[in-house]
Amino acid sequence: MTSSAPSAADLAELYDVLNPWGRSDDFYLDLVMAARLVLDVGCGTGGLLHRAREAGHAGRLCGLDPDAGMLSRARRWTDIEWVLADAASAKWDREFDLAVMSSHAFQFLVTDDDLRASLAAVRAALVDGGVFAFETRNPSVREWEQWIPSNSFSTVDAVGAPLRVEYDIEQPVIGMLYE
Ligand SMILES: C[S@@+](CC[C@H](N)C(=O)[O-])C[C@H]1O[C@@H](n2cnc3c(N)ncnc32)[C@H](O)[C@@H]1O
Repeated sequence: MTSSAPSAADLAELYDVLNPWGRSDDFYLDLVMAARLVLDVGCGTGGLLHRAREAGHAGRLCGLDPDAGMLSRARRWTDIEWVLADAASAKWDREFDLAVMSSHAFQFLVTDDDLRASLAAVRAALVDGGVFAFETRNPSVREWEQWIPSNSFSTVDAVGAPLRVEYDIEQPVIGMLYE
């Protein structure tokens, strides 16, 4: 990577460097492998569905994401459907038996309107009896207390170039429900 502003493709590649496969991905992979028709909402760079295909999933795998850079990285894998859109814009009608939103993708739905529209679109995309799996952070763990400058660290990117990751919270969580 050069020292100029990173491109969308660079950022998507960095996402994979900084977010390696973890235990919660194993949890979702088990769900995906047990379903036949799977929609990954906020699929990012597509690693979950790719792993499922590699592991022998023979059914329909479809990833949806509004970020063109992330989705173009996912499109390296041509044996999976990729759709550039946000959750609320999804137009499927009872086509999937499982929808997932992994790795905190659900937290990108911030406003009540977006949450309602996204949940309605995911519901419409599912067959009756279908399952929607997503997670949120447990506020009692107070993870934000670890996102502080002293926990910044250095690593390398995908081609071995030095990479510095710095944490800073712009709006301290003060006076809120979980303070
Ligand atoms: C933290 S990443 C998780 C990516 C992927 N699920 C994973 O496990 O690595 C969150 C993703 O949600 C996507 N996203 C943001 N807003 C969204 C929306 N309204 N609907 C669907 N996806 C959204 C982002 O573009 C991003 O790729």
